[in-house]
Amino acid sequence: MGGRSVRGGVVTGWGTALPERIVTNADFEARLDTSDVWITERTGIKERRHGGTTAGLAIDAGRAAIAHAGLQPTDIDFVLLATTTPDHLVPSTASEVEAELGVPGGAADLNAACSGFVYALIHAHGLIALGLRRILVIGSDTLSRITDQNDRNTAVLFADGAGAVVLESVEGPGELLGWDLGSDGSARGLLTAPHGGHIGMDGKEVFRRAVRVMVDSAHRSLERAGVDAHDVTVVVPHQANLRIIEAAMQRLDIPMQRCATVLHSTGNTSAASIPLALAHVLDGGQVDHDDLVLLVGFGAGMSWASAVLRWDERSRHAGGHHRGGHLTGGAP
Ligand code: ACO
Repeated sequence: MGGRSVRGGVVTGWGTALPERIVTNADFEARLDTSDVWITERTGIKERRHGGTTAGLAIDAGRAAIAHAGLQPTDIDFVLLATTTPDHLVPSTASEVEAELGVPGGAADLNAACSGFVYALIHAHGLIALGLRRILVIGSDTLSRITDQNDRNTAVLFADGAGAVVLESVEGPGELLGWDLGSDGSARGLLTAPHGGHIGMDGKEVFRRAVRVMVDSAHRSLERAGVDAHDVTVVVPHQANLRIIEAAMQRLDIPMQRCATVLHSTGNTSAASIPLALAHVLDGGQVDHDDLVLLVGFGAGMSWASAVLRWDERSRHAGGHHRGGHLTGGAP
């Protein structure tokens, strides 16, 4: 499923939020049968953040994104919140975000696991094509709450954070050149968490599928956008495991220097991982007007999503927008 955007959206602001509490590999080494060397070599992760609620992190990131766009919460028509870890079964986490920020429009959660932010961004473009003007798209997750902190297989990987963008409608086609969404529900058993329980996963099989679906989905989006992988300025992949990212980049034939990575300091923050990495390269000045940005994610479901954006100068705003912790950036 996929296609070209019919009416325009551009990202005009972005913001991130991380809990204050840093959990290092040494912290796990001290109490589990693991080591900094194993975690670093097998995943690329050095530290991650634990704490807060999904709504609390989303509110901080969302407020920062709205301010960064030079807008007020009352300017926003809709809050679309991608999360795997809603604070309640009922009501939606987005409803708390909407109320706390003072957004007058609609609000809803979307669960496509780690593909959630790209899913939400594409859905938001659809809402803009239907006439909405400004949408706050957030990816927020508190995976530490559904991870068994005594299970070395998962504890070292999953963490908490949030990232948000403001998507505004513009005259003309906007930024989205091509996109691809998908899911193979027959593989949904590979990564699960029951109500009140913890994440369990078949890491090896998830790894294999992740590389394949990221590359295939990216190729579909690039083809629909009518551009070549070699023309992409920055790839912003889901931040699950550096080896997954490196394998996918190699198959896409794009050098790692053109890849956004923050997982060494964030771990896998699920729906937050792509907006956190996107904010990092935008803040670092790595994206200029007219540059091509490829977002690509995969996750439980098994879901995947990718999008090719041609960055628009209307997206460029100055000013700080981090709340809570800060990303330190760069490759590990
Ligand atoms: N420290 C030390 N040893 C460990 C640890 C750890 N933290 N975790 C696992 N091991 C052990 C395993 O128990 C296994 O031991 P065994 O051989 O005695 O059974 C050994 O390391 C090797 O295990 P492998 O599975 O071969 O290790 P692999 O290189 O595949 O790395 C990992 C494991 C990191 C989980 C990897 O498979 C991976 O990243 N998979 C993808 C996971 C992922 O991306 N999940 C998120 C999906 S997105 C979403 O929707 C949330």
